[in-house]
Amino acid sequence: MAETGEATAGGPPRRDFLNLVTTAFAAVGVGAVAWPFIASMQPARDVLALASTDVELEPIAEGQAVTVMWRGKPVFVRHRTAADIAAAREVPLSQLPDPQPDQARVQRDQWLVLLGICTHLGCVPLGQKPTDAKGDYNGWFCPCHGSHYDTSGRIRKGPAPRNLEVPQYAFTSDTKIRIG
Ligand code: FES
Repeated sequence: MAETGEATAGGPPRRDFLNLVTTAFAAVGVGAVAWPFIASMQPARDVLALASTDVELEPIAEGQAVTVMWRGKPVFVRHRTAADIAAAREVPLSQLPDPQPDQARVQRDQWLVLLGICTHLGCVPLGQKPTDAKGDYNGWFCPCHGSHYDTSGRIRKGPAPRNLEVPQYAFTSDTKIRIG
């Protein structure tokens, strides 16, 4: 009995048909094995949750600041006063070691959001608590080697080469931001 290579009526030879069926089953088999493997590569829920951090702004009074953790790093959120904003805007860019206008660093004037990591060697600057030293420019002071940041988080004095970084964030309502 010619089992293989035999032409079926109006179709491909049976051997080709068997090859097709075998290939299809093999594909399903790979799919079945691959799924648990791919599923195990998905980030865990707690890891996904840490990918972004929501911050309620309402409890932060003018002049106050909070520190939240995002992806293992401190993020400073400061509710700036009118004087903070004016001080950040009146300084000529030519006097800044890392020239950047204040307007380019905020989405809403009174809310400043920064990575709380000194751009010199990575210390966490002081300036979040009311009793902290805030440096010569009323922003943040890094005591490790004496870097002074202003009310826009820009480096003004000391060895840090760059302004405090502004992380990616968005306002999800008038009183809430999502970092990340
Ligand atoms: S790490 Fe901040 S001044 Fe050196």
